[in-house]
Amino acid sequence: MNLEQAKIKFEEIVKSQLERAEMIKNQGDFTDYNALDKIVIGVVGGDGIGPSITAQAQRIMEFLLKDKVESGKVEFKVIDGLTIERRAAELAAIPKDVLEELKGCHVILKGPTTTPRAGDGYPNIESANVAMRKELDLFANVRPVSIPEEGIDWTFYRENTEGAYALGSKGFDLGEDVFFDFTVTTDGGTDRIIRAAFEFAKKRGKTRVTAVTKANIIKTTDGRFLKQFYEIAKEYPGIEADDWYVDIMTAKLIDTKRRQDFQVMVLPNLYGDIITDEAAEFQGGVGTAGSANIGKKYAMFEAIHGSAPRMVEEGRDIYADPCSVIRAASMLLAHIGFTQEADKLDKALDICTRTEKKIYTTGRSDGATSAQVADYIMETIQKM
Ligand code: IPM
Ligand code: MG
Repeated sequence: MNLEQAKIKFEEIVKSQLERAEMIKNQGDFTDYNALDKIVIGVVGGDGIGPSITAQAQRIMEFLLKDKVESGKVEFKVIDGLTIERRAAELAAIPKDVLEELKGCHVILKGPTTTPRAGDGYPNIESANVAMRKELDLFANVRPVSIPEEGIDWTFYRENTEGAYALGSKGFDLGEDVFFDFTVTTDGGTDRIIRAAFEFAKKRGKTRVTAVTKANIIKTTDGRFLKQFYEIAKEYPGIEADDWYVDIMTAKLIDTKRRQDFQVMVLPNLYGDIITDEAAEFQGGVGTAGSANIGKKYAMFEAIHGSAPRMVEEGRDIYADPCSVIRAASMLLAHIGFTQEADKLDKALDICTRTEKKIYTTGRSDGATSAQVADYIMETIQKM
């Protein structure tokens, strides 16, 4: 690629980001689920163990929302076709008809989807996760980590549509030995994630919000993020605002004397990706965490773990641990206003996975099946 071609490529990138910034400015307000006659909950199995674990999460939601399903206030819609085979065949991050079906739902529960990477034999299509976050403009990735016995109660607000992810598949190589990738932030995109974090803190009585950047080095984008953070913080006088660089934050999360002090963290996309895996590990691994992807119009809830193709190949998918996607289901219920049902489910999950733990999965036939775990959770709810 010569300099002229590079200029054209870069111009395309700039134009697309100007359009995106404009779209953010013109977006509507958050959906009011109370005002809807019917809430449509989409269930997307995804790849590998996804269909089998999301089916269990759906069973539990249907159990908790029995009356609402019967009265027509809630409808479940299973959406097939978000599989790596179809995406590879159509060279699409999300097949068109699947995207249309997704847009027909108000909220979505999603199983893991395989992300192609260099050398795995799949074409270089964008991650379905990343595409869904972009297509549905799910800008806030909310990831709670809680370890009550250690005094840890963290909530991460990861920006979900900007940063290195917005242009992660738009890099280019100039020829033999010079390669570029780009990162981008917009004021609108930064504003809405930072506000979401402070609003959450205010609603939940949290007293501290911490920004995590590398603004000493990545001066333009992270620098702007940090500047806006402190501007917006002024509107929340009762809440302490501070910031850490991502390297030292990574270290502080393992500092057992200091880490309990963090409450709400707000981070650009890539740092959020990395730090939330670290944080989830303290709680028992990424398999134990749920994740909410929230936009103004749509919201999607997912497990953080991968699709475990080997379990399916070996016929072990019925033994997969469904708890992470069930946690995600509880976040979904809370998000659409069914807080009592969500609380019950959270309590039952704590009993079944931490305190009582009568049965559990091992990933193999010597452990429980996903369906047995779901039964156990529902029986526990019934006893409450
Ligand atoms: C996550 C995952 C995704 C990401 C991958 C699967 C694209 O790691 O949800 O954190 O990088 O955002
Ligand atoms: Mg990740």
